[in-house]
Amino acid sequence: MADLEDHIRHKRELVIALMGKGGTGKTFISLGLIQSLKRLGLKMIVADADSNRSLSRYLSYHYLGYGEKELQELPLITGSEKDFYEFHGLSSEQTYRKFYNTPFHEVKKFSITPTDSFTKKYVKTLSDELALMSVGTSALRMEELYSNRCSHATLNPLKAWLALCTNGAVVLDCGGGEDSGRFGLPIGTHVVVVVVEATPDSVAISEDIRAIDEELGIPVVYVLNKCLNHFPEVEAFESKYSDRIVGKIPFMPSIYGKNPLDVFDQVERISTQILERILSQKLSSPEERWERVLRWQDRLQEQRELMKTQPFSFVS
Ligand SMILES: Nc1ncnc2c1ncn2[C@@H]1O[C@H](COP(=O)(O)OP(=O)(O)OP(=O)(O)O)[C@@H](O)[C@H]1O
Ligand SMILES: [Mg+2]
Repeated sequence: MADLEDHIRHKRELVIALMGKGGTGKTFISLGLIQSLKRLGLKMIVADADSNRSLSRYLSYHYLGYGEKELQELPLITGSEKDFYEFHGLSSEQTYRKFYNTPFHEVKKFSITPTDSFTKKYVKTLSDELALMSVGTSALRMEELYSNRCSHATLNPLKAWLALCTNGAVVLDCGGGEDSGRFGLPIGTHVVVVVVEATPDSVAISEDIRAIDEELGIPVVYVLNKCLNHFPEVEAFESKYSDRIVGKIPFMPSIYGKNPLDVFDQVERISTQILERILSQKLSSPEERWERVLRWQDRLQEQRELMKTQPFSFVS
């Protein structure tokens, strides 16, 4: 654990996002990493951005005895825009643009330890060292259903928060597929862990995810999960990315379908190894994380301007 303890001693933050095809084991591995980080006494926020809310369900049931009704009542970061810009002393659309022009050393940071007022409002405390941030499901969120803005714009506060949070760890479960990458959700993280089930389909989707994340400039590592059969596509993947595979987990029938928090003892060693290997990779600096957000916003702005000048046409 030398790398990790070193990281903590220097009071740095660690923001990890998990991506991958649906059902590959993102939530399971997130929970393993959370438990390993927790054993080190590191204060942590778990951000659940999957609309299936598995991570929120497991954690809130385990720590608070919550059921579906209470789950629906968790504060949602997607509804935080007004508070977010108020925290930064901004109030109008014009100052929103100003926010995305603020250099790293001037922009106000968020803090996990101690928790700043914005973060406190949008997390649910689970224990002394653990809190849950929920993105929630978009099902019947009226302001999105009848909005003329793209619904992923509601993720802007979360994207910037991930880039600007300090003094603690964040584990973000992005949900299945490459969509969250196309929305730029993990743009402010240190690293994306792509969970690859050892099958040809999952390998193919992980290539899409890597291509998007690399275009955005986010470091990518892999965990190969549920290794059971031998496929040539998986073997080719393994030799191509051997330096970036931070863990290999066999298919373990004894954990399948179980609450990961109840079977942590079976995966503790491998989770801790994965964490150590993640930290041994070259991770982004805080400045790099924020610069990526600014670059992304610039590109969006350029695109908006372009759309204004180009008349709509059907592609034949
Ligand atoms: N190494 C493993 N061995 C056996 N079962 C596993 C392993 N990893 C995960 N599982 C099981 O696979 C199923 C899917 O895992 P999990 O829910 O973590 O995937 P996910 O990627 O988060 O899925 P989704 O995209 O639906 O959110 C669960 O039943 C889990 O118990
Ligand atoms: Mg999941």
